[in-house]
Amino acid sequence: MKTQMRTEPMALMDLAKVDVPKTQPPNLLPEPIAPRDLVSVHDLAPAEILSLFNLTAMLKRRPADFRGVLAGKQMVMFFEKPSLRTRLTFEAGMDSLGGSTFFVDQTRGRLDARESLYDIAHNLERWIDVIVLRTFSHATVEGMATYADVPVINALSELEHPCQALADFFTLQEHFGDLSKIHFSYVGDGNNMAHSLLLAGAAMGSKVSIATPERYALNPVIVTMAQAIAEETGATLRLLNDPRKAVTGTDAVYTDAWASMGHEDEAEERAKVFAPYQVNAALFNLAKPHALFMHCLPAHRGSEVTDQIIDSPNSAVFDQAENRLHIQKAILVWLLGGGVGRFQARSARAHA
Ligand code: CP
Ligand code: NVA
Repeated sequence: MKTQMRTEPMALMDLAKVDVPKTQPPNLLPEPIAPRDLVSVHDLAPAEILSLFNLTAMLKRRPADFRGVLAGKQMVMFFEKPSLRTRLTFEAGMDSLGGSTFFVDQTRGRLDARESLYDIAHNLERWIDVIVLRTFSHATVEGMATYADVPVINALSELEHPCQALADFFTLQEHFGDLSKIHFSYVGDGNNMAHSLLLAGAAMGSKVSIATPERYALNPVIVTMAQAIAEETGATLRLLNDPRKAVTGTDAVYTDAWASMGHEDEAEERAKVFAPYQVNAALFNLAKPHALFMHCLPAHRGSEVTDQIIDSPNSAVFDQAENRLHIQKAILVWLLGGGVGRFQARSARAHA
């Protein structure tokens, strides 16, 4: 969308104040906001993220109440990289909301190899209601968002993975409640996950400690963005090199692949540098006893995490994967204007 920006409070934010009603129908909620894009976690104001979590909780608790909310809407997905979770949760989510999906396997050639992004965008906007992209270059997602007159969702780029980070902080909220009281840690590569998690933690007012090898530090532009958000929310952000320091006393320990998609040929070299960042019992035991182990998956067992930790009762990895479905349904309902207020009111009447 050409008008995309991270803005002042919008109608959706009011949802944050509305909990799922138990006995009384709520007041009618505001109609959804004008369509926008979700290219970065930074596209959402902190209160909007909380609103989205509220909607996600409703969708998760009572999916049947939202059946058909996106009837007649069409989504296209172009993926330049492989996917299990992202593809299936978007497809299943859109289907359960009554919409349809077209998947374009773009793994054999970049999206804009045959035709300019500008031309593709102006075709798609004539046919389709929402565009979901998984790309190598972040500029491809940004370009599509700039040119296309329908919402564009980043389903992972080299720079960010906002849908995953939102699902992850929703999972943390389910476990711990108030996110401004948690200490979240991440150890490993300063990659797309680290960037989106830092932005999400900053927006939620959390304490965030991230340890990466010096050579694989986070992108300074993202760090500056996160620091600006933290000034508004009171979040504390610590960027370190020592994984033990990052993890000690935290409520959640997150890690990701040492060699992300597109960097597989560096795997051997990276394995040496990242070895001290492996989440094993010695490292994980420095966190609080109730700490969650988190990973976006796919996991490379025996590399960034041991079986003992990922299979432990503290592991939240499958909760995170499940919540991809619920958060993305909420994102689609929100971006496509699926009449949230109408459906919530109907849902409340049914349960009164
Ligand atoms: N976590 C995640 O995005 O998984 P996929 O790569 O399988 O989509
Ligand atoms: N950082 C990983 C995330 C996979 C979901 C990658 O980009 O490959």
